[in-house]
Amino acid sequence: MAILEVRNLSKRFGGLMAVQGLVLDVEEGEIRGVIGPNGAGKTTFFNVVSGVYKATSGTITFDGTRTSNLSPDKIAALGVVRTFQRVALFPNFTVLENVNMGRHLHARESLFAAVFGGQRQKESENLQKSRDIVDFLGMAAHRDELASNLPYGLQRTLNVAIALATEPRLLMLDEPVAGMNPTETQEMTRIIRRIRDELGITVMLVEHDMRTVMNLCDKITVIDFGEKLAEGLPHEIQSNKEVIEAYLGAEDIVA
Ligand SMILES: Nc1ncnc2c1ncn2[C@@H]1O[C@H](COP(=O)(O)OP(=O)(O)OP(=O)(O)O)[C@@H](O)[C@H]1O
Ligand SMILES: [Mg+2]
Repeated sequence: MAILEVRNLSKRFGGLMAVQGLVLDVEEGEIRGVIGPNGAGKTTFFNVVSGVYKATSGTITFDGTRTSNLSPDKIAALGVVRTFQRVALFPNFTVLENVNMGRHLHARESLFAAVFGGQRQKESENLQKSRDIVDFLGMAAHRDELASNLPYGLQRTLNVAIALATEPRLLMLDEPVAGMNPTETQEMTRIIRRIRDELGITVMLVEHDMRTVMNLCDKITVIDFGEKLAEGLPHEIQSNKEVIEAYLGAEDIVA
């Protein structure tokens, strides 16, 4: 069974159908790419899945629970968490403090901890988990640095860390390598793969960098004018005539 089931999903802004009749299944443990031209509706789709926007029509089901009528915090508590297209962090707090902020957004605390663990124990547990995440992402050396002092690539990594701190089951990344240099892009690609391989988290990502998308994704969904244009394995998408015409363009195709 798919962990995420999207059925006939539409989102209208006034006269504009930003997402239109979208049908999509994401399997547990998959890395799914969502691509398409600027303004195609990719970010809107993420916003509807994470509950930031209410769907105009259609349904979203996550792990058997209908989420399309739930609030963003309830959806996050079920484990559906997104990062933003731009950097969103607390600049005057350290890396560890930022990640710990993410812990506090994590609503799925164990009953045991809530009932038997005192506040202090929970706090030290939170800090330990935050440290583990910082270490996992290779940022241990930057743990006590102010977020604002980090180079751009690491600020984006910190955004991923904050999202991981909420213990997602489906992590949605909006343009995770946008603006990164090749080294930073490679590092982020490696991190995303490890998040799936080592943490078992299902990943859905929007990205314009085709090399990254083709390298990383098990399957790709192409959106154009809010509608699904194509879906398939990376090599299928790369050779799909409609996709090339609408989006890729011959010069963008990478082997
Ligand atoms: N809050 C909003 N109110 C009105 N229109 C919106 C809103 N958010 C997005 N749109 C419009 O919906 C369409 C889809 O936008 P969206 O941001 O989802 O595209 P995108 O595929 O993420 O593009 P990009 O690749 O440039 O990030 C665009 O025409 C955009 O102007
Ligand atoms: Mg976008």
